[in-house]
Amino acid sequence: MTWSVGAGLEGKGVLVTGAAGGIGRAVCDAFGKTGARVMAVDLEQAKVDEVVAGMEGSGHVAVATDLRDLSAHEPLVQRAVAELGNLYVLASLAAVLRRRYSIDEITEDDWDFQHDVNLKAVFFLCRAAARPMIAAGQGGRIITFSSQGWWTGGIGGSVVYAASKGGIVSMTRGLARTLGQYGITVNAVSPGQTHTPMLMTGLDPKVYESMKAQTPLGYVSEPEEIAGPVVFLASRHASYITGSTINVSGGYLMY
Ligand SMILES: NC(=O)c1ccc[n+]([C@@H]2O[C@H](COP(=O)([O-])OP(=O)(O)OC[C@H]3O[C@@H](n4cnc5c(N)ncnc54)[C@H](O)[C@@H]3O)[C@@H](O)[C@H]2O)c1
Repeated sequence: MTWSVGAGLEGKGVLVTGAAGGIGRAVCDAFGKTGARVMAVDLEQAKVDEVVAGMEGSGHVAVATDLRDLSAHEPLVQRAVAELGNLYVLASLAAVLRRRYSIDEITEDDWDFQHDVNLKAVFFLCRAAARPMIAAGQGGRIITFSSQGWWTGGIGGSVVYAASKGGIVSMTRGLARTLGQYGITVNAVSPGQTHTPMLMTGLDPKVYESMKAQTPLGYVSEPEEIAGPVVFLASRHASYITGSTINVSGGYLMY
C-alpha cells in the first residue's frame, strides 16, 4: 500500500458540490493535489471556472447547476462519468443557512429552502451517484456534510439548518447500510466553526467570540483543516470506515 494522504485517488473521478464555497474550494484543491479528476459544481459558472483554474492537475470540469432541480442530477452524474472517465467519489458540500434568532421569525419558505438544498437534494444526488459506482463494480466513496448543529440543535439562529444536518447523519447511516454490499462507503464530515462566508454571514460578533472561547484549540478552523479529513475518507486508508460522522471541531464538541 502507498502511504500518502490521497492514496488510491490518482485518476479517480470526484464530484464536489458547493465547490465555490469556502470549504468546497479547499476540498477541490486538495483532491487536485492527489491526482484525482474533479467535477466542481456550484450555482455560478464564473465561480466554478475560477476554482478549476486554480487547481493542480488536469482533466477537471466546472459545472453550474442548482441542485434543487432533482432532474439535473442524473445528467450531472452521467457527465461526470463521461468527462472524468469514472466516478469514484461524491463529496456533497452544497448547503444553505438562513439565520433567524427567534423561532417566531422562521417561515415555511425558510424551512423548505434549507431542507431542499441541505437534505433532499443531497439524498437524490447520493442515489444518482451510487448507480454508476455500483455498475462499475469498483466500490466508491460518498462523503456528506453535517455540522455540529446535528448534535447541539443549532446555535446562533440555526435550528432549521441544524435539523437538516441531523437528517444528514441519519441518512448517511442508512445509505452506508444500503451501499456497503457494493464496497461503497458513506460517511459524514461534521465541521466545527470554519472561517467561510456561511459562518460569518449575519453572525453576531459576540456569538463568534463565544464559539472561539468554547473551542479547546481556541480558534476557528480554516477550510483546509476540513479538506484533509475529506480526502482521507476518500482514500484507500479509510476503506473500513462507513456510516461514521467525523467530528472536526477543534474539540468544541467531543464525540
Ligand atoms: N463554515 C462552517 O462553519 C461550517 C460549519 C459546519 C458545517 N458546515 C458545512 O460545510 C459545508 C460547506 O460550507 P461552507 O462553509 O463552505 O459554506 P459556503 O456558503 O461557503 O458554501 C456553500 C456553497 O454551496 C453552494 N450552494 C448553495 N445552494 C446550492 C444549490 N442549490 N445548488 C448548488 N450549489 C449550491 C453555494 O453557492 C456555496 O458556494 C456545508 O454543507 C455546511 O453546511 C460549514
